[in-house]
Amino acid sequence: MDTRPILFFDSGVGGLSVLGATRALLPTAPFVYAADSAGFPYGTKSEAEIAVRVPALLGRLAERYRPRLIVIACNTASTIALADVRAALDLPIVGTVPAIKPAVAISRTRAIGVLGTDATVRQPYVDDLAQRFAGDCLVLRHGSAELVRLAEAKLHGKATDPARYGAILQGLFGQPGGARVDTIVNACTHFPLVVDELAAAAPAGVRFVDGSAGIARRIAHLTANQQWPDAPGQGIAVFTRRDADSNALAPALARFGLDRIESL
Ligand code: DGL
Repeated sequence: MDTRPILFFDSGVGGLSVLGATRALLPTAPFVYAADSAGFPYGTKSEAEIAVRVPALLGRLAERYRPRLIVIACNTASTIALADVRAALDLPIVGTVPAIKPAVAISRTRAIGVLGTDATVRQPYVDDLAQRFAGDCLVLRHGSAELVRLAEAKLHGKATDPARYGAILQGLFGQPGGARVDTIVNACTHFPLVVDELAAAAPAGVRFVDGSAGIARRIAHLTANQQWPDAPGQGIAVFTRRDADSNALAPALARFGLDRIESL
């Protein structure tokens, strides 16, 4: 029996959106979910900080948990450090990058928004995706650290102010040409966790897309010939800093099958 887990990595709870989609496809897969709570948030950090921190942490996590595959369930870390992680580790690494291609496929107005962290929206990786897949579209970008904090608060069981979602979306709709945007890419894995709140604050007809279902299919494809346990086991959540804040996430983690909490 192959009990090696799939290891998910994010700065915080965002990667749970990708884990959730993967669990739906591979319900008995063993999961380890790693949150770099000591380094959170990533979106306001420099490229150099992320490029040093992420491969080093993933090296330690790979040694401890011996995963069959690693998912960098974070757009910020993936758009900056995916190549470095692949070079450092001899394991399949799946990244999470903005779902610009699927957004372009469904936009009727040919105007899309990319909502991510400040670090993600300024990456050349995003310029490249826009150039390759969105040649005939207006692509507006907006970075929001506040939206990351709102998603964290929600999963910590705290109420969030509905008015803030509309104010954040104004960062896209308020730009020249913004009124035409009919499709928004949730280019941070935290944002699908608050997609209902975002949709309620957006003009009618605006659609939100993210890459989680596509990533889940990619993981299923890459592990297609591998064995899985017969029944779901206890998933593990591991934090780089464990404190009252991470312990408050226990109910949310349990909803994703992560019943054990550890620290790195
Ligand atoms: N969830 C992360 C992403 O997809 C980043 C959130 C943060 O730490 O700023 O970009």
